[in-house]
Amino acid sequence: MKAIRIHGHGAPDVMRLEDIELPPPGPGEAQVRHTAIALNFSDINVRRGGFYQKDPLPMPIILGNEAAGIVTALGPGVTEVAAGDRVGYCGVGSNFWARTGAYAEERNVPAARLVKLPDAISDRQAAALMLKGLTAASIVNRIFRPKPGDTVMVHAAASGVGLLLVQWSKHYGATVIGTVGNAEKARIAKDHGCDHTILYREADFVAEAKRIAPGGVNAVFDGVGLDTFEKSLDCMAPFGMIVNYGNASGHVPPLDILKLSLKGSLSVSRPGVSQFLGDPVRFRQVAGELFDAVASGILKTTAIRTYPLADAATAHRDAEAASHAGPVVLLP
Ligand SMILES: NC(=O)c1ccc[n+]([C@@H]2O[C@H](COP(=O)([O-])OP(=O)(O)OC[C@H]3O[C@@H](n4cnc5c(N)ncnc54)[C@H](OP(=O)(O)O)[C@@H]3O)[C@@H](O)[C@H]2O)c1
Repeated sequence: MKAIRIHGHGAPDVMRLEDIELPPPGPGEAQVRHTAIALNFSDINVRRGGFYQKDPLPMPIILGNEAAGIVTALGPGVTEVAAGDRVGYCGVGSNFWARTGAYAEERNVPAARLVKLPDAISDRQAAALMLKGLTAASIVNRIFRPKPGDTVMVHAAASGVGLLLVQWSKHYGATVIGTVGNAEKARIAKDHGCDHTILYREADFVAEAKRIAPGGVNAVFDGVGLDTFEKSLDCMAPFGMIVNYGNASGHVPPLDILKLSLKGSLSVSRPGVSQFLGDPVRFRQVAGELFDAVASGILKTTAIRTYPLADAATAHRDAEAASHAGPVVLLP
């Protein structure tokens, strides 16, 4: 089978399409023929190297850890799925960036990590949604649940996770301000429920946010990190919550917590979804929440951008250039 592997960290051109022998599934594993593979920012961080890992990962690495497909064979002892089932997975246990292997035509996956996909969810939607949706669900359903009267600011509102946060926050009744990199992304963010958008590369988003919400915003959902986190403190309403869930622009520097007292008492959360992914029962529960939100129309995933798996390097370059909105799926 063909897979995208790296033999060392670096720019997208370290990614190579190679022929690999896939062994039969082992005990507790199911073999899945991938039909749609997610591109996540985590894949870019693994490719670049030095982001999460204290110790270097053993090379070569097949990138990616989220996909949908069809079960084609079962290893000994598998009861969770049957051959022919349409399934998805998101991580295979432990951290999302570890034990990767999704950028491939096929993969052996621990059957306990597979979810059967309901008819209402296409393979592409599943691949586009699971990690990003689990992240959004953990934020709006478990860390800060927006309510009517709240104003929420979503940074990079047209990103894969951002569009889900915008829709869910709007569904819960909040006024939503989205920061975005360009006018087309502003249009897409508004189409997904943003009440206000700020072109944060052109305008001072702190001044704009204060103009829109003079009393401050009740929550900031921030996947951008370095470029936005510190400035976001200035936008907060007293007792607000800043959720930094990602570092697309780089790591947030250490925070002087005394700054949190300047607005009564601000709260800061830094979630990682690996905790959710580490428990198959909880994973299936949150995946169910997510699929229900799609089936009931709370979340739409209209803007899925696709690339052939063989062009994964181009997809990474485009993601790093922030040239598109919404989720990206690779097609084997
Ligand atoms: N905590 C967790 O467990 C978890 C789970 C999933 C994802 N994440 C993180 O969440 C973040 C967003 O993920 P995503 O899937 O939504 O990503 P995405 O769709 O690729 O969007 C990332 C967006 O970030 C903005 N951005 C700002 N500075 C950037 C830079 N230097 N390089 C690239 N993009 C930059 C861009 O939007 P604009 O053009 O609008 O600025 C870009 O479109 C990533 O950092 C990812 O690692 C964390």
